[in-house]
Amino acid sequence: MSEKSKTQKESAAQWKDIKPLRTMIDSLPKISADITFDDVFTLSLSDVSPQNASVIKDCALALRSWRKGPFQIGELFIDSEWQSFIKYNILRPHFNLKDKKVADIGCNNGYYLFKMLQEEPKKLVGFDPTPLFWCQFDFINHFAQTKIVYELLGVEDLKEYGEKFDTIFCLGVLYHRSDPIGCLKSLKSALERDGELFLDTFVIDGDEDIALCPKNRYSKISNIYFIPTVNTLKNWCDRVGFKNFELLCIKPTTSDEQRKTEWILGESLENFLDPNNNSKTIEGYPAPKRAYVKVSL
Ligand SMILES: C[S@@+](CC[C@H](N)C(=O)[O-])C[C@H]1O[C@@H](n2cnc3c(N)ncnc32)[C@H](O)[C@@H]1O
Repeated sequence: MSEKSKTQKESAAQWKDIKPLRTMIDSLPKISADITFDDVFTLSLSDVSPQNASVIKDCALALRSWRKGPFQIGELFIDSEWQSFIKYNILRPHFNLKDKKVADIGCNNGYYLFKMLQEEPKKLVGFDPTPLFWCQFDFINHFAQTKIVYELLGVEDLKEYGEKFDTIFCLGVLYHRSDPIGCLKSLKSALERDGELFLDTFVIDGDEDIALCPKNRYSKISNIYFIPTVNTLKNWCDRVGFKNFELLCIKPTTSDEQRKTEWILGESLENFLDPNNNSKTIEGYPAPKRAYVKVSL
């Protein structure tokens, strides 16, 4: 763990919102688990008493909102807002992580990292600066007992991180950055010489070299800055010095992939789209659609 991440974790652990969650995670019963790598990341627990089952469920409920998943932990099914295996299964045919050093930037609760264990990488490191998602990761990892490293750091910290990776995933982060080219430069700085980067980001249709800049919100999300055409995304990658831009897939977001469940607090996709025209967001912009790409140095 980097010194900066250690300090961030220590200070986050003291925050009013997070402190009770850390205490709950620290008090979870010690139970061994077997992992099954299905679309639902499954931990089979042995000998869970009704009292322990209730402690585990209360902790998981306190950790809402669960954006990424799903997870099955013993009898408990965490039906996350996103069916994250859809994204994972789009990317899966395009990578081979065996013996690779792998980073997931913006890893959320680590769902993809947990799934990637099956690929037998040399090392798995997740980066995400949001304390709640770190807590969710620790909740799952309390039972899974993996060697995945979770850094409470952002993409902007990669240049100083000091370690490079063979494969980097940066999924659903680029549109949150007000400086997407700077973000791509940070990602490049953390790649080994023959490394590869997997990205997904919102795109708009068209062949022009342009990007949509939402006025305030996009799909009710306040921190969406640039939504490029695929050509513009390629131009950004070219400018940073990435080669071999490969478009893997373009996929609109549907309610199969993102929907309201009891495991999130607040709204989901059905509230973000124009109720009379689902091809538009509630603000009148083109509805969410993602491009999945692979680039290398
Ligand atoms: C839309 S979610 C995408 C999560 C996941 N990568 C996926 O594709 O399903 C964006 C994630 O980026 C994280 N994030 C926020 N600021 C970040 C930063 N500066 N660097 C990296 N990740 C960040 C958020 O905490 C959140 O987990």
